[in-house]
Amino acid sequence: MDQLSRRDFIQTAFALGATAAVAGVAGKPSTAIWHERRDLFPEGVASAEPQSDSVLLWTRYPVVPTASVTAANATMANSTAAGAKAAAAPGESAASATLTVEVSKDPAFQNVIATSTTTVSAASDWTCRVLVGGLEPSHEYWYRFTDSKGSGSRVGRTLTAPAENDTRPVKFAFVSCQNANQGSQHAYRRMIFEDEKAAPADRLGFVLHLGDFIYEIVWYPEDRPQGMYDRRLRDIVRYEHGEKIADFHIPTTLNDYRAVYRAYLHDPDLQDARARWPFVNMWDNHEFSWLGWQGIQEFEGKSRPAQTRKVAANQAWFEYQPARVTRPGVAVLERFDPPVVHDAPIEKFDDHGFGQEANNIAAVASLTGYRLVKYGRNVDLIITDQHSYRSSEPTGRPEAEPLDNADFPDLVPQEVMEILDAGREYNDGKPPDSIEFGTARIPNFRKHEPAQTIFGKTQKQWFLERLRTSQATWKIWGNTEGTLDSRVDPQNLPPGITKPWPGAGYAAFGGGGDHSSAYVERAEIYDFIRQHGITGFATVAGDRHSFWAGLAAKGLPPQPFDPVGVVFVTGSISAPGLVESLEHKFPAAHPLRALYLADTPAKAATADEAGKVSPLPAVNMLLKHGVKSCLEYQRSHDIAQARKLSNPQLAPHLSFIDMGGHGYATVRATSQSFESEFVCIPRPVERIERPDGGPLLYRVAHRAQLWAKDGRPKLEQTVLEGNPEFSLTT
Ligand SMILES: [Fe+2]
Repeated sequence: MDQLSRRDFIQTAFALGATAAVAGVAGKPSTAIWHERRDLFPEGVASAEPQSDSVLLWTRYPVVPTASVTAANATMANSTAAGAKAAAAPGESAASATLTVEVSKDPAFQNVIATSTTTVSAASDWTCRVLVGGLEPSHEYWYRFTDSKGSGSRVGRTLTAPAENDTRPVKFAFVSCQNANQGSQHAYRRMIFEDEKAAPADRLGFVLHLGDFIYEIVWYPEDRPQGMYDRRLRDIVRYEHGEKIADFHIPTTLNDYRAVYRAYLHDPDLQDARARWPFVNMWDNHEFSWLGWQGIQEFEGKSRPAQTRKVAANQAWFEYQPARVTRPGVAVLERFDPPVVHDAPIEKFDDHGFGQEANNIAAVASLTGYRLVKYGRNVDLIITDQHSYRSSEPTGRPEAEPLDNADFPDLVPQEVMEILDAGREYNDGKPPDSIEFGTARIPNFRKHEPAQTIFGKTQKQWFLERLRTSQATWKIWGNTEGTLDSRVDPQNLPPGITKPWPGAGYAAFGGGGDHSSAYVERAEIYDFIRQHGITGFATVAGDRHSFWAGLAAKGLPPQPFDPVGVVFVTGSISAPGLVESLEHKFPAAHPLRALYLADTPAKAATADEAGKVSPLPAVNMLLKHGVKSCLEYQRSHDIAQARKLSNPQLAPHLSFIDMGGHGYATVRATSQSFESEFVCIPRPVERIERPDGGPLLYRVAHRAQLWAKDGRPKLEQTVLEGNPEFSLTT
């Protein structure tokens, strides 16, 4: 690093308030005494947000043991006896400890190029963030932390980003939704196994975590002795304070939120993944609250102010998820310094649905997560926040409750969804006075309210500007939630099966919440892309606990279908998905059961290792081909025959859908093409301790060639392994 860039780096580190380590040119063998003591670093190590010359390093070293870790948790961590106490050494007190961090070009630390010290203290729950600069682009490094007695963390591996103009292919994984309370994280074991055997140029550069890194909603085993769907409930965390709602528990304090992160990080597969790759992290909803938005929680149909919990959630995220994200105005990476807020009612909302209450404003502003991550010439990753600025979700409002219709589970007429989304903007500013669906007729409670926004005003401007000015081949929208429409054609149900469909045409499936039903805002984004001739627009998403591949379009037939990008949604690492819940909850005698689950004869059914016969996920067919295909499949159990009755107008935007899939997805972005691969594992009910992470159900790839500015993207599908025939939609 020359003098000038060294000064630049130190200024950057200073601006971030980070402990900095600057790499020297020549590497030297480590002179430190180091013996591995994983028990003293029970949450392992991590690296994050690689740039071409720097990366963030993280660990946790609790001088004072943590009380709220359960016995089961300690067992889960295997070699890491969670909560072990590091006896205070010289230079340490119960209040703080100094750690040495070393960065090396080799895992034996014979070529150490940076050494620094950092302090951990109770103020950050004994976590630290160190920014290492002066690194070479596209390079592999190893790092470790050591206390003053020579007791060391495990060794972590990290990677820097390619240089700004480097056109080499970029490969990364994207993941979401890991639930350590209800499942196993061995999808990461598979990811590690595949990466280790891949040629160096084909290895992952980083893991993009699109949220639900934790689930703040925790069932203790005794809360549901029968378990959750197919799952056994694990005793991984007990909230010191917490609140019990219905039969689950939620965190109420900073220490409660911290306890969930610690519990999750004792998972051996997750911990190994964090030690192998840099992560780029973003929160979704569960890092704060299941139905949370802004500084508000919603439980049992009621919203309530939760500004103190939003700040606590942000602080715990900041401490446990290293990122180049600081509190605005505070700009310190070492600690969070929470603003003091109170839970105060939020009564006034501005024209973008944002609560104009001082504590709400302060709580949301306590951490800004949306950001741009640049990665070589081919990738700009534009990461957005779908919860902190969004307006109230209209289908979740109590006023909308009469629109639930047990005759048509999870289906709402598309025209109703559009009225609810657009508010006063509906029909060129002439919204109806009431909304009807079957026998329900409710006042249009959205008539005088602004259109729904998920971005909020400021984030939206920022997002569009990033798209417009990006010079990267691929402008990748890291959206924690899906954007692809999920719709159904109940208007095509033949008479006699159930009551006639009371809507005008298509139905939206599964309610609102993400950009698939924020029609006004989504159209604004996609129109902007079209108007500005932006090419290479790709979305990677999570949240849906299902795999989806398709095209980004603001409208579907009978509206014009004009795709402006490609979209990929990854299945969950472990959290249960829709199909699993349908299997347990969907009534056997419901007249529309065949649209959701196909109860096949035993010979055609899938059986797991325990011999359990599961129905097939007909809902995949429903969302791509429509009701007639599902009914035909029920009659003939012949997929080809069923597909012949496909409704080609229903879902021209979808290439693949698996509402029951788990695992992870990868991206390979070159200067010519964008390819995403779905790696699907069987339902991760129990940990598979094989080095390869267990068997795969399938591996399927979708590729798009870069399209011209006025062109249209197209996806090409390849099944690489296994048989996802009930998900193939082409
Ligand atoms: Fe999730």
